[in-house]
Amino acid sequence: AQGTSLVGRHVLITSGPTYEPIDPVRYIANRSSGKQGHALARAAKDMGARVTLISGPTHLPDIPGVTTAKVETAADMLDAALGALPADVAICAAAVADWRAATQAMEKLKKEEGQTALSLALARNPDILATLAAPGARRPTLVIGFAAETETIITHAQEKLSRKGADWIVANDVSPDTGIMGGDRTEVHLVSASGVEDWPAMSKDEMAVKLLGRAAEALQTMQLA
Ligand code: C5P
Repeated sequence: AQGTSLVGRHVLITSGPTYEPIDPVRYIANRSSGKQGHALARAAKDMGARVTLISGPTHLPDIPGVTTAKVETAADMLDAALGALPADVAICAAAVADWRAATQAMEKLKKEEGQTALSLALARNPDILATLAAPGARRPTLVIGFAAETETIITHAQEKLSRKGADWIVANDVSPDTGIMGGDRTEVHLVSASGVEDWPAMSKDEMAVKLLGRAAEALQTMQLA
């Protein structure tokens, strides 16, 4: 909407993948480009917010005027996010690796002559969205997560909304044929306690502006309440 401003607000955004080291030269990661998270940071800055962007490894340029913390692992992303509080809005757009290597080898892992299989023990990573959304004095007023799914998108998003305690979940279909993962366009559903809104297909930049506009409105309403 016209006239929605985020002046005086602090917006915290996670973006990109995380890299979870296995040994000094190998890691577990995923195909997140960071495009949506960085678009959100740009849009929030353009609306006047103070923006902290916590980014995993991406090929994207820095955004002038946005305080950016570059991290690799989920553990470091969580530390950086908690360290950036308080915030009015937190948007978790990062594709955080669910698992990390349970132990990190100090030396490069070697294959033995004749070895045909290797098991890697994994440990669960902390959930940054759930941690930020947990009730408490430092909980941001509005906590927004993403649900990238390849099937039964809305049901999964609703389940995520309640399990993680987020206020809104932006759900999208990242099946390979949609081209959303790594692409410039997206088609999302905004899932909240009050229902589901189907948004038309648009660019990730347009989606970012629309979502931050809605966040600005919601903050205003919450303050008047
Ligand atoms: O459970 P799932 O990974 O599908 O949830 C996606 C949402 O949760 C995204 O907003 C993502 O940024 C967030 N998330 C997180 N920390 C994790 C896993 C997911 O913040 N360890």
